[in-house]
Amino acid sequence: MSAIRLSSPFRSLISTRSLPSSRRLTRPFTMTTKDEFKQQPHKSVIIVSDPRQGSSSFAMLYIDFLCMYPVRLIVITPASTVFCRIPGPIEVADEVLFANAHPSMSHISPDFIPVFGDSIRMTREVLLTKSGQPFLISGSGTLGWDQVAANLVEQGENALVLHSGYFGDSFNDCLETYGANVKQLKAPIGRAVTSSELEKELKSGKKYKIVTVTHVDTSTGVLSNVKEVAALVRRISPDTLVAVDAVCSVASEEIRFDDWDLDIVLTASQKGLGTPPGLSILVASKRALEVYKSRKSPPASYYASWKKWLPIMNAYESGTAAYFATPPVNLMYAYHASLQLIVKGEITLSERLKMHKDASRAVKDAAKRLGLKQLPELEEEAANGMTALYFPEGLTASDILPRLAKRGVVVAGGLHTAIKDKYFRIGHMGLSVVDAQRGDVNTVIRALEDTLKEARAAKLA
Ligand SMILES: Cc1ncc(COP(=O)(O)O)c(C=O)c1O
Repeated sequence: MSAIRLSSPFRSLISTRSLPSSRRLTRPFTMTTKDEFKQQPHKSVIIVSDPRQGSSSFAMLYIDFLCMYPVRLIVITPASTVFCRIPGPIEVADEVLFANAHPSMSHISPDFIPVFGDSIRMTREVLLTKSGQPFLISGSGTLGWDQVAANLVEQGENALVLHSGYFGDSFNDCLETYGANVKQLKAPIGRAVTSSELEKELKSGKKYKIVTVTHVDTSTGVLSNVKEVAALVRRISPDTLVAVDAVCSVASEEIRFDDWDLDIVLTASQKGLGTPPGLSILVASKRALEVYKSRKSPPASYYASWKKWLPIMNAYESGTAAYFATPPVNLMYAYHASLQLIVKGEITLSERLKMHKDASRAVKDAAKRLGLKQLPELEEEAANGMTALYFPEGLTASDILPRLAKRGVVVAGGLHTAIKDKYFRIGHMGLSVVDAQRGDVNTVIRALEDTLKEARAAKLA
């Protein structure tokens, strides 16, 4: 099977770049040129035609050429001609797009089993854990909250939610839905909960079954110090579980599951993990699994029950298939391709994290130069995979967002209900950060500069 990316008339047909050695994939892809194709025709071809790069007419010519051959043709055209810089879902690498376009496959096929098994193993590598148990389940990040609430907390047990934005409220709601007795420690907008507040609460005499923390709250861009939270809980209340909502931080912020002694890290495919949405990814510690196994009541959910899913994960990891509910086969191919880039690619995980820091610095410095105030109040509490900025004095969303979009840059508006109309959010995660050749960060900065100049001039006119 060959893959042709038509990003520009100059690059497309002469691309000889091979996709990563996908030994485990049943159909390895090779980038191919017209001449190579003539020498050795393939049965299937994927064309990625990106209209924003002016390659549509070029694609048509290529398709005309391919029509002379008995070939199965898949044309992928990014739906949007704009440059989407929201904090997830993010743009995905070509390798991931191609893998997602894998022909339909049985979930118990011998070809698929190692793809699932390797994805479980590579998930551990991303989170730096040897003994953590990954759960890869069809669903979104939200399913991670359900798994925590349904498997680890029983009716009336105490849960403490560290709140640094919108997603703390949602985790709270989810825990309450399953009968937990939830208390929130709420940080002021733009701040994370401090260690001293947490310490005071842990020493209050109330026994907590679980403490949850949102690593990066996507509504505020506030980064919580998960390492410190876990150390504090372990010191004061060693049996209390620490669950991290890392939907907006895996692969863009440092997470050391074993070293920091975490119990749960839950995330989703569509942000730093660079895969289309639809996969819930959760890793549970041995301690968390013990707590689950010693429940007095059965798990409080059918679909989210680890009783159902643990045997499935164990089976695929040990090289056999098992069925509870159909896994997202194509998405797993895509996730596998992305994990290969993250843990086995040319850029190491630590280099990847450093690149996120550098990109973040560049965006935040530019914003400061332009007179934009960040939502997080402290530098050390500002996320590296996104930037949340207040609109400047006198300007609103309607002055800024359409002008950015006109320049091809789509960003996200505010999400935190209390200040929704006062700020906007830029995502800089994954591909746009690690593929420096794309120049995405500079494109965003330039668009921001031009937009502000134009918007301010329009107000004065
Ligand atoms: C921090 C955080 N937690 C949880 C979620 C929920 O994830 P999903 O929308 O994939 O269900 C999101 C979504 O953006 C998020 O940013």
